[in-house]
Amino acid sequence: MKLLLLGSGGREHALAWKIAQSKKVEKLFVAPGNAGTCNISANDRTGGHAFAETENVCIKADDFEGIKAFVVENHIDMVVVGPEDPLVKGIYDYFKNDEALKNIPVIGPSKQGAVLEGSKEFAKEFMQRHHIPTAAYRAFNGTNIEEGMRFLETLKAPYVLKADGLCAGKGVLIVPTLEEAKKELKDMLGGMFGNASATVVIEEFLSGIECSVFVLTDGKNYKILPEAKDYKRIGEGDTGLNTGGMGSVSPVPFADKEWMKKVEERIIRPTVEGLAEDGIDYKGFIFFGLINVNADYSCAKAGDPMVIEYNVRMGDPETETVMLRLKSDIVELFEGVAEGNLDQRSLEIDDRSAVCVMLVSGGYPEAYGKGYPISGIENVEGSIVFHAGTSQKDGQVVTSGGRVIAVSSYGKDKAEALAKSFGEAQKIEFEKKYFRSDIGKDL
Ligand code: AMP
Ligand code: GLY
Repeated sequence: MKLLLLGSGGREHALAWKIAQSKKVEKLFVAPGNAGTCNISANDRTGGHAFAETENVCIKADDFEGIKAFVVENHIDMVVVGPEDPLVKGIYDYFKNDEALKNIPVIGPSKQGAVLEGSKEFAKEFMQRHHIPTAAYRAFNGTNIEEGMRFLETLKAPYVLKADGLCAGKGVLIVPTLEEAKKELKDMLGGMFGNASATVVIEEFLSGIECSVFVLTDGKNYKILPEAKDYKRIGEGDTGLNTGGMGSVSPVPFADKEWMKKVEERIIRPTVEGLAEDGIDYKGFIFFGLINVNADYSCAKAGDPMVIEYNVRMGDPETETVMLRLKSDIVELFEGVAEGNLDQRSLEIDDRSAVCVMLVSGGYPEAYGKGYPISGIENVEGSIVFHAGTSQKDGQVVTSGGRVIAVSSYGKDKAEALAKSFGEAQKIEFEKKYFRSDIGKDL
């Protein structure tokens, strides 16, 4: 088979690493990819895997016409979508409604399914309709600001305000006082995030530990992939600004059999059944952003899993650990998704721990430099170097984003995997390199 994977981050390098190990794959193209996706074997410093040939293609992940021309010309058999953008813009529907493309499976939900991530209000309504546990909420827009102010007065601090639309991970504000919450509500509805905050969801604050749970579904059947914990803040001890994610670990100790049973019964199954009931075509990943609440609430008891958000793709940097723990051939699973017989495919999970430590460019998530040469990858031993924000310039790998490289490792336990990643992270050099050295230490 010839596959095309869309995207260019660490998530896509990790997906490419796994797809290229499939016995079914003759060639994998990545559009647009990064300096790692075209060089999978050189960046797997474990020496333990064999890979199909991979190649980057200079097409943006949301350039549907460019993708069509490439897919037709190169006889691509399947398209896997990494980021949410092309999904929210309707790439699944674009293929389905095109004579030349309609028989080529796209792994990712329809445009209607992608609204689960594209609109917080839609996601909350969906959860309410299908009795899926989530924080109590109301949504407001320019016509009912005063009601929004009064709703805030009924809540306890801190206050959670979410822009309805996609804001590149920046649309959620958590503020300590009622006064600030009222001001932020006004500013958000006044266009703080442009059209994305024309509607604002205000919800009850839940305290607890977060966990990312991933499912692959064919719209009827589903497989639960390994869960992971992401570290979102830039500073050690979970301080400072939010980032795209500074590292991840899998498994997550509190996500034991008993907790995951609650997750499956109360959240996963009703979500997959709810999508089918609502007539939403969904063949792809569902990312459940969950919180294990540590107190009793109007809507939950301590120890309950609650949904904080849905995403319609894999997580980044969670994929950089989840793929390490997936033993099964991922392309076989994708075929199950496309053919609607995922229940007949086997899912095997590696018992070992996997962790990833993200190396970022100093200044990130605020202003940072780009184009710094990266050295030392060839000295890494026993870890997998997933490129996140890198590109090739005059034969040299250089930084091209804030999150630059994820160093992923296996271990018999979390401590062993972490020691490996932290050790190997020291060997990779670029100007103003920074990473959090407390990943996984809270668990
Ligand atoms: P979201 O984009 O909805 O995942 O929100 C971003 C982050 O804000 C989450 O990962 C949580 O850390 C935090 N958050 C969102 N909603 C809540 C809530 N109801 N209670 C507590 N924290 C929240
Ligand atoms: N790591 C969180 C996300 O991918 O949204």
